[in-house]
Amino acid sequence: MAFTLSAGMALLASISAVAAVPFPGASFLQPRQATMPDHCTNYCSVGAGCVCIIRPTNCVANYTVEDGDSCTSIVAKYQSFRATDLYAWNPEIGRECFGLQSHVPVCIDVTGYTYPGPVEGGEIWTPEQTPVPVQPGIVSNCTQFEFTDSSGKPGFAALLRSNGITQAQWNAWNYPSQNDTGDWSLWAGYFSCVKA
Ligand SMILES: *[C@@H]1O[C@H](CO)[C@@H](O)[C@H](O)[C@H]1NC(C)=O
Ligand SMILES: *[C@@H]1O[C@H](CO)[C@@H](O)[C@H](O)[C@H]1NC(C)=O
Ligand SMILES: *[C@@H]1O[C@H](CO)[C@@H](O)[C@H](O)[C@H]1NC(C)=O
Repeated sequence: MAFTLSAGMALLASISAVAAVPFPGASFLQPRQATMPDHCTNYCSVGAGCVCIIRPTNCVANYTVEDGDSCTSIVAKYQSFRATDLYAWNPEIGRECFGLQSHVPVCIDVTGYTYPGPVEGGEIWTPEQTPVPVQPGIVSNCTQFEFTDSSGKPGFAALLRSNGITQAQWNAWNYPSQNDTGDWSLWAGYFSCVKA
């Protein structure tokens, strides 16, 4: 099954290999106004084969993921939910949204949901707010995440300045397994860690 990572995922700064470490802190998510079943159910189609998915029992609308989709592209298409909600309703996509699968439906609305509006570049979120999507590999004790929008704003220099942090600190929280003097990438359309 092809993952759909590429679309809408511009890389800023200079590019290096990305450490694809699963985000360890996913357990604090409270599904928003969603009623989640205990077990996954098989979804089978010609395009997707059979995959086991967990979807809210009060889901009222689906979207079938297409090749090249990302959380950013799906959120931009509808502008009626946030990536955080998409994750709450479709937990297997993961905090990085790497688990989106082509030809598999994702829930995009549940009864009683109210859209709070888009996430803007520069917003700071805490772990309890469940920032999604997050850059892969962020340290588990990150306490603040900043969103860089899909146009790349705020950029890296502005992000360091506004948080009063050094590149070495940002590197240590976002690329903990890498040389902290390297020029690692800030990902457009993702949250990165700005305090730990
Ligand atoms: C959404 O897709 C799931 C999985 O195929 C299905 O069980 C559910 O009935 C669909 N919901 C709606 C509102 O179409
Ligand atoms: C957070 O975790 C990193 C890596 O595990 C560690 O180096 C750092 O000291 C921790 N920070 C705090 C404030 O606990
Ligand atoms: C880390 O990167 C810097 C700058 O590229 C380099 O000078 C240094 O030798 C590297 N350190 C390690 C341990 O790889």
